[in-house]
Amino acid sequence: ELGPYRHFMQKEIHEQPRAIGDTIEAVIDNGAFGAELFGKNAEEVLRDIEGVQILACGTSYYAGMTARYWVEQIAGIPCTVEIASEYRYRAAVANPKQLIVTISQSGETLDTMEALKYAKSLGHDKTLSICNVPESAIPRASKLVYYTRAGAEIGVASTKAFTTQLVALFTLTCTIAKLRGRLDAEGEASYLDCLRQLPGSIQHALNLEPQIKAWSDKFAPKNHALFLGRGVHYPIALEGALKLKEISYIHAEAYPAGELKHGPLALVDEQMPVVVIAPNDALLEKVKSNMQEVRARGGQLFVFTDEDSQFGESEGVHVIRAPRHVGVLSPIMHTIPVQLLAYHVALARGTDVDKPRNLAKSVTVE
Ligand code: F6R
Repeated sequence: ELGPYRHFMQKEIHEQPRAIGDTIEAVIDNGAFGAELFGKNAEEVLRDIEGVQILACGTSYYAGMTARYWVEQIAGIPCTVEIASEYRYRAAVANPKQLIVTISQSGETLDTMEALKYAKSLGHDKTLSICNVPESAIPRASKLVYYTRAGAEIGVASTKAFTTQLVALFTLTCTIAKLRGRLDAEGEASYLDCLRQLPGSIQHALNLEPQIKAWSDKFAPKNHALFLGRGVHYPIALEGALKLKEISYIHAEAYPAGELKHGPLALVDEQMPVVVIAPNDALLEKVKSNMQEVRARGGQLFVFTDEDSQFGESEGVHVIRAPRHVGVLSPIMHTIPVQLLAYHVALARGTDVDKPRNLAKSVTVE
C-alpha cells in the first residue's frame, strides 16, 4: 500500500498533485466558477452574503486563515476566522447574512461540529462545509458542501487535506467574487488558468525533496525553531511550525515577520534555526529586511523562495528556490517544502512519523 514510500505521510505529501487535480476537476471541466459547485440552491445562499465567518481547528484553521486574504482581496467582503473551540464558548454577535464556513478533513471534529451548531442556534442558516469525508457529520449538518478529493488521509499529520482545502477555498472565493460582479471574464480565465497549472507547480516543489532532506541534519539536534512569513504566507509559516512540532517534537513557533522586533527577536541565536517563507511577491523587500535582523543576531536562515527573488546563499543563509512563482496560489505551493522539512527532520530524529505521540487522527472529544 505504501508503494515506494516509507510512511503514509510521505506518500500523502507526494499525492498532492493528484489530490489537487481531482479536487479542482469539477471547476476545470465546468470551465467556470459557479455556485452549483457547492450544491443545489447554492446561488440563493451565496448571492447576498455580507461576510464570511470561518470556523475550524488545527491545520484546517490555518487553511481558513489563508483564505481570509483571498476572500477580502478577491471577493471584497469581510472575512473572519476563528478557532472552533473558542467560538463555541463565547457570546458571538450573529449576522445571518454572513456565510458560516466550517473546514474539516474528517467531518467529525467535535469542536467544529459544536461551533456550527452554536452558529445555527444564533440564527445563522447560510452554512457551508469543506470536508474530505462524504456524508460525515459536519457536511450533513450544513446547507452547502464542497468535498475535497484528497482520498483517505492516514498519516495523523494533515498534508494533502490542507492543500486541497486551500483549492476548495480559492474556488469558493472566486465564486463569491463572480456573484458579486467582481470577477470579469478575463479575471476568471486567469484564475482558472492558475488552478489548472497548480498540480504541475506542486510537482516541481516536490522535486526539491533531496535539497530539503539535506537540511534535516541541521534541524534534528535543535530544540527550537522559528518560522516567519508575511501576508498570505504567514499562515503557511504557522502550518510549517505545527507540522514540525507534531512529528519531530521540536518546539516551533511561527510569527508574522513584521512582529520580530516586538518580542521574538530576543530568542534568536545560532541555536535557533529560522525558516522563512519568502516568495517573490510585493512583501519580499520587507521580508528581506526581517532576514537581516535575524542574521545580525547570529541566527541561521533557511529560506524557501521562488524564481527571480534575487538573493542567493551567503554565510548563515541557506536558500531553496522553487522554479516558478505561482501568483495568487503561492501559499499552496509553499506548503510543500515545509511539509517535506518536517517529514525529513522527524526521520532524522527517528520519531513515529505516521503516529505521533499523544495525537489522534480524528478528535471527536473535547
Ligand atoms: C494537524 C492536524 C490537526 C487537524 C485538526 C482538525 O496536522 O491534522 O490539527 O487539522 O485536528 O481536524 P479536521 O480537519 O478533521 O477537523
